Amino acid sequence: MKVSIIGAGNVGASVCYLLIAKEISKNVILVDINRSIAQGKAIDLQQASVALVSSTRIQTSSDYKDIENSDIVVITAGIPRRENMSREDLLGTNIKIINEIVSNIKKFAPNAIIITVSNPLDIMNYAVLKLSGFERNKVIGMGGILDSARMAHAILKRLDDKSEFVNACVIGAHGEQMLPLLSHSFVGKKSVSELFDKRTCEDIVNDTKSGGARIVKFLQTSAYYAPAAAICILIEAILKNKKEMLTCSVYLEGEYGIDGVSIGVPAIIGKDGIEEIIELSLDENELKMLHTAATELKEQIKIADKLLKENV
Ligand code: LAC
Repeated sequence: MKVSIIGAGNVGASVCYLLIAKEISKNVILVDINRSIAQGKAIDLQQASVALVSSTRIQTSSDYKDIENSDIVVITAGIPRRENMSREDLLGTNIKIINEIVSNIKKFAPNAIIITVSNPLDIMNYAVLKLSGFERNKVIGMGGILDSARMAHAILKRLDDKSEFVNACVIGAHGEQMLPLLSHSFVGKKSVSELFDKRTCEDIVNDTKSGGARIVKFLQTSAYYAPAAAICILIEAILKNKKEMLTCSVYLEGEYGIDGVSIGVPAIIGKDGIEEIIELSLDENELKMLHTAATELKEQIKIADKLLKENV
């Protein structure tokens, strides 16, 4: 199985490092238009692979031709957030980059499953789907796994017994309109809404929503270790046909009463990518918030469509 990672920035390189350490794929290509960065990172990663006695072979390229016959292509390229920037502020720059990348994926890896990571995530995943013309099951946005990990982290911080099993669920947009679901998140068998008082629940929601921005404030760039971990979970679910339920940005065609938007919902992920979309039973308020998120994303989609029309 061949996995190509587009973009040798912090996220792309961290994904490679995890793929090597966990031996998830034998054949990994790291592509970046900046040849020097790609080469430098690849040598470092190859040496890591030798040190870890990993079976993963990693190669670098600045030529998209080398993604030929990839089973999975991960798009991490694009500019990251800086302090006081929203993910949406990246739209204008990143959509041009995505446009070029997708035309190369169509040319060299037409059978690949694409994992979109570049921000603003849900809009970029929509653009990847439209530009590629691929089936919707083969275009997956990575957002919800990361946001759910951030929610689990926020919950764990508030537990005395850190060994408890936490299963958090965040749906909606990978942005301001994300929806950490208290009633669908569990510590052992108890839901978070049952376990904590109202104030603590609100704090958990706020910590989850601001989880990415908090890191940007400290680092002056966006996170990469947790995003890379989330990407690896997706890659592993596909390559090992795990049929795992993971929250991903998925193009909806009527599910949850939403149409024409890519947004975070739970899905079963296996060898065919998105194998099933799971419709959670949401209460009236949760459903209303999901619809508000979808409506806001539709506004962003209009901007994206306009930019693509001007650019093409
Ligand atoms: C974050 C970026 C990857 O949430 O969107 O950290």
